[in-house]
Amino acid sequence: MQNKITVKLKDNAYNILIGNSIFKNITSYLEKNSVYKNILVIIDEVVFKKQKNILKYLSPKEYSNFNIYPLKVNESIKSYKTVIKVHSYLLEKKYSRDTTIIAIGGGVIGDLAGFVSSIYMRGVHLVNIPTTLLSMVDSAVGGKTGINFNNKKNIIGTFYQPKLVLVDTEFLTTLPKAEFTSGLGEIIKYSYLYDEKFFVYLSNNYKKIYKNNSTVLQKLIYNSLLIKSNIVKQDEKEESLRKILNLGHTFAHAFESNSKFKIKHGMAVITGLTASFYLSHQLGIINDNSLYKYLSLPASINVGSFLNKMDNRKIYSIMRSDKKNYDGKIKFVLIKEIGEILVDVIAKPSLIYSAIDKTRKLYL
Ligand SMILES: NC(=O)c1ccc[n+]([C@@H]2O[C@H](COP(=O)([O-])OP(=O)(O)OC[C@H]3O[C@@H](n4cnc5c(N)ncnc54)[C@H](O)[C@@H]3O)[C@@H](O)[C@H]2O)c1
Repeated sequence: MQNKITVKLKDNAYNILIGNSIFKNITSYLEKNSVYKNILVIIDEVVFKKQKNILKYLSPKEYSNFNIYPLKVNESIKSYKTVIKVHSYLLEKKYSRDTTIIAIGGGVIGDLAGFVSSIYMRGVHLVNIPTTLLSMVDSAVGGKTGINFNNKKNIIGTFYQPKLVLVDTEFLTTLPKAEFTSGLGEIIKYSYLYDEKFFVYLSNNYKKIYKNNSTVLQKLIYNSLLIKSNIVKQDEKEESLRKILNLGHTFAHAFESNSKFKIKHGMAVITGLTASFYLSHQLGIINDNSLYKYLSLPASINVGSFLNKMDNRKIYSIMRSDKKNYDGKIKFVLIKEIGEILVDVIAKPSLIYSAIDKTRKLYL
């Protein structure tokens, strides 16, 4: 069984295919989606080693120029240095404009390979095959690519849409538990963006992801990507509506940065969502009942104890220097109700400090 979502962008519409054990049809999917036949696979080394059983279906015989480029993944490989290495390799192996880069890995590989593809010979085809839950529900779709520079995360990048996204939940069989929790962070975010039904389903079923329940995983991935692609098709470059995807992220990015990126993105998002709900409450945007209801999911996952070691003033100053706050004002994305999200909300520093304090207390 395979589910399909078409991201209906004006210029670059593309398909997302979601299923369990669908990678075995990779050759025909590439064919049907008309990608170029000179292929470079940029792959997470761990996935390359652990998933040989799945990867065997990608056969070099089908393609004129075919190479595999494994990378040892950590956040620091999202750099100019790696971009130069991959571009040099592409030239050495004589890849021209009719090239397809297939990114197989989590968000690090996706962001890097996306950036590499977007600027090599002014853009070659890109296929995303996410292998972490976070990349399956979020980063593989939407076209944001990026590398880190000058200690700033994702400060260099492009909007560059893939030609195809293939989500095969079989890759998750080797994923560590903490990475499931990290992916859950973004799924939780999506559950506030659209309707009550998804929020209730997620609250009742999220524990099943740790048992690799394929039905639940596919439903959560499908719903999250459907919400994301509907938003992206209306606002590809984050000029307006797409900002709602940053619910909880103003806090989350500051927590991540303060930890020197030692805490995982999804854990920071869960904690950032919590802080954003407290801020909404303090600003009178939501009442007590809504606050407790929205907090129930992040509180039950309980990953915010890292906040004990963080200083409020430091968090505040990181938020002020965020690339989205070009005028020095911190802008928050806050919930009014499920499906109604406010963007560019400004709050007094005392309220921001107090939202962080309340979050810290919740996760003590
Ligand atoms: N472009 C976007 O829209 C967007 C959105 C959110 C996050 N991001 C970026 O995504 C990155 C984080 O991505 P991530 O959370 O997927 O982390 P990641 O790519 O670092 O992967 C996490 C860990 O899981 C391992 N791994 C990957 N797949 C595996 C598998 N199937 N089995 C076993 N181990 C596996 C990796 O080797 C790594 O150790 C960050 O750089 C963040 O900036 C981008």
